[in-house]
Amino acid sequence: MEHKTYYITTPIYYPSGNWHIGHCYTTVICDALARFHRMLGEEVFFLTGTDEHGQKIEKKAKERGITPMQFIDPLVSELKDVWRLLDISYDKFIRTTDEDHVKAVQEIYRRLYEKGEIYKAEYSGWYCTPCESFWTESQLKDGKCPDCGREVALEKEESYFFRLSKYAPRLLKLYEDAPEFLQPKSRVNEMVNNFLKAGLQDLCVSRTSVKWGVQLPFDKKHYSYVWVDALSNYITALGYAGADDSLYKKFWPADLHMVGKEIVRFHAIVWPAILMALGEPLPKQVYGHGWLLIGGDKLSKSKLDAVKAELTDPYALVKRYGADAVRYFLLREIPFGSDGTYTNESLLTRINSDLANDLGNLVSRTSAMIGQYFGGTMPARGREEGPDGELVAMAEGAFAKVRAAMDALDAPTALEAIFAVIARANKYIDETTPWLLAKDEGKRSRLGAVLYNLAESIRICTVLLKPFLTQAPVRILESFSCPADMGFEALGFGYFKGGEKVEKLPPVFPRIDVKKELAEVAALVAAERKANERPAPAKQQTPQKKAPIGIDEFDKVEIRVGEVIACEKVKKSEKLLHETVKIGEEVRSVVSGIAKFYTPEEMVGKKVLVVTNLKPAKLCGVLSEGMILCAEDEEGRLSLVSPERDMPSGGSVR
Ligand code: MSP
Repeated sequence: MEHKTYYITTPIYYPSGNWHIGHCYTTVICDALARFHRMLGEEVFFLTGTDEHGQKIEKKAKERGITPMQFIDPLVSELKDVWRLLDISYDKFIRTTDEDHVKAVQEIYRRLYEKGEIYKAEYSGWYCTPCESFWTESQLKDGKCPDCGREVALEKEESYFFRLSKYAPRLLKLYEDAPEFLQPKSRVNEMVNNFLKAGLQDLCVSRTSVKWGVQLPFDKKHYSYVWVDALSNYITALGYAGADDSLYKKFWPADLHMVGKEIVRFHAIVWPAILMALGEPLPKQVYGHGWLLIGGDKLSKSKLDAVKAELTDPYALVKRYGADAVRYFLLREIPFGSDGTYTNESLLTRINSDLANDLGNLVSRTSAMIGQYFGGTMPARGREEGPDGELVAMAEGAFAKVRAAMDALDAPTALEAIFAVIARANKYIDETTPWLLAKDEGKRSRLGAVLYNLAESIRICTVLLKPFLTQAPVRILESFSCPADMGFEALGFGYFKGGEKVEKLPPVFPRIDVKKELAEVAALVAAERKANERPAPAKQQTPQKKAPIGIDEFDKVEIRVGEVIACEKVKKSEKLLHETVKIGEEVRSVVSGIAKFYTPEEMVGKKVLVVTNLKPAKLCGVLSEGMILCAEDEEGRLSLVSPERDMPSGGSVR
């Protein structure tokens, strides 16, 4: 058999925190495609990661008085948690701060510079000194810095430019000669009409004012422009311009860069031009998908506050409904290529109608009937009669439909084809009325044949569902005594021999009471909003003086040395860390508001001072049995207070 490879990428994500279900859209689609191609027997490389450089991050870290890495690390772990929860089967998670990537980007810049594709010139723009930012005339807000509203001055900065302008004709030709390069077709029109027709300008690809980036090897004052750094990840992840480029040789050019429509221009203009300049092959396809909308706008961090009535946090959603339900909604509900709307209600409706009613009922009814009428043993295949042929043909024909849809990257249509078989099987139960057949001993073999046909249809649909859902298929296959790794080789009708054990499954997707659930979610979201609305503590000028106390009063406070032995972020809170602290022989759970200043990894191993006789309290649902002492400066920045010399945990403080 021909050895086929499939290289698929998601964009690399800005570590912004506040992950929402819209962020999961690109990655879940890519995961379904990756799983589908693996099941076709192809060697798949599925890449995702984080885009960690640039001004925004430099600035945010500075505002918090921490290093960019201290700012980024916890957000990257959060993102990885989201992907773990959603069963995202990536083969590599690249971070643009990875040493290999940084070195390869430097090599890419060097090559472009040596080829004369990058040249030095002057960049002029409006400079905001406090923000260290250049702005173009049109970016200014009432002539002032759009970020901080302060005065700006016209300044010039020496920069390197990439000769993007000369690639306009080649890009136009590319879209014409290879229509599959940029899909859907509407994106080509956007690129041509909005950008290429007017001609391209050379692209400024270095900054001297933003130092959180890749330093240019031929001019150390300059740091890379974040998009060149970010786009390069698609090849540096494979070892391009590095010590071992065997993966690059194997997988490049990528089969698919899947991206949201707002970043198509970087992928369909800047990226191919860079590759052309490097003399490397172009990706086979860039697909610009639509957005998940909420209240008519793109679901985004800034919109979240306005639409708090909807639950959009992937942690909370997966916890409430399971990974399969969230994946299914994203893959099924949004017409591919166009925008789709997210509401809690539409998610719940999908879960109830498709997963609980159609799929869940079919599975539980069939397994229950095999249990009830055949003692949980699969009956033998019978002679075809009545509606059997139609069901068998539909089940056997589903793969071709799923394949055609997935070749067109159209997951909703693929799922529709599978659910059409599920609907047909449910109708088949009503037509064949197994409960009546069971009453007539003479119809026992017909009853067996009916249940056999249902079980086979379920098995085939379940195998076909494996790229889309990751948990229910395993449970269903196992309850029908099929191996969990059953693949597309087993799609022919007639796999069961008869005699296999069939277990009755509890509902795979319990039905949700939509009204009750929506009310609960609304209450949850309102409580969360209230918590976030609490005014930030006023800037402390000088610590407030407190009334004098006697030593006996101070003695009431018990402070002891503790060692942090484990630590994690409190989910749903930006501020709280949950530490496990060893205090002598005792181990306590402590919650403290220091997440903006310490990462969980940093906390582990630290000796801290803990107030140990405070009454226990629950913070965001997590038990806190003590308070870790911190010093605070006038900006509200916190620093842990630790014994100046190493002290054993449990030691008292007086
Ligand atoms: N860092 C850049 C990409 C660099 S690729 C070399 C970036 N990151 S992002 O975090 O802002 O977005 C990551 C992906 O999430 C993008 O594909 C974006 O379109 C997608 N989405 C973010 N919000 C979305 C919706 N509301 N709906 C659908 N996808 C959305 O862009």
